[in-house]
Amino acid sequence: MKRKPIIAANWKMHMTPQETDEFLRSFNRLLGSRDVVDVVIAPPFVSLAAAADATRPSENIAIAAQNMSPEPAGAFTGEISARMIKELDCDYVILGHSERRTLFGETDDYIQRKVSAALDARIKPILCVGETLEERDANKLEEVLERQLRAGMKDVNRSRADDLVIAYEPVWAIGTGRTASAEQAQEAHAFIRKVLTELYDAEVAGQICIQYGGSVKPANIAELISQEDVDGALVGGASLEVDSFFGIIKGAEEHVRDTTA
Ligand code: PGA
Repeated sequence: MKRKPIIAANWKMHMTPQETDEFLRSFNRLLGSRDVVDVVIAPPFVSLAAAADATRPSENIAIAAQNMSPEPAGAFTGEISARMIKELDCDYVILGHSERRTLFGETDDYIQRKVSAALDARIKPILCVGETLEERDANKLEEVLERQLRAGMKDVNRSRADDLVIAYEPVWAIGTGRTASAEQAQEAHAFIRKVLTELYDAEVAGQICIQYGGSVKPANIAELISQEDVDGALVGGASLEVDSFFGIIKGAEEHVRDTTA
């Protein structure tokens, strides 16, 4: 089998603590004790504690923050540190999401500092990379992915590299209903793995999970995840309803079962 898939819900600015609790209690009942794929939920900061409480009885759901500061502590009004989210049971943190890059001006360099701070705190970064439509149309897909990867992983040495998850999210596919075709996703994922091989080696590159993100839904997960280098999904809109998020997990599980049967 290739890498164990990770299906992650990026709730963005949705879900109050109470809504988080309600969602996860019914989701937990559906999920039961299955463990064919790893499931990660990334609620907003204020709902992290509720998520940790609601998922505690099951060991099957990991919690992620959607962002964090690269600074350990200090006079940074409105910021949240790695230590703070670690204390709230976060095993993962999403870093460099395209909304952070484009709406909040986060640079490759700034994201790289966050990656290092997360790893120092024993939190696994989900490092997001991806091109805009203009970049794709200008044939800059590989250039953009390579720049974002090399910058984001600059200070990550070989022994820590497989603690990272990479999420390939073409910006033009996020929240637009327009998914990359399975071939487009595979092409980008294979290129990402090639860059990881250059940065480390084939063994390390072969261990790193590369998720696809951008309008993933129950209807397209099977085709995406059956691609050789697609190891899971980072799901926005379709993760906000219990049934559709669960449908994506089931779709991924069926693929794993088919390939291991
Ligand atoms: P989407 O978002 O599934 O709503 O396209 C994905 C993401 O931004 O992580």
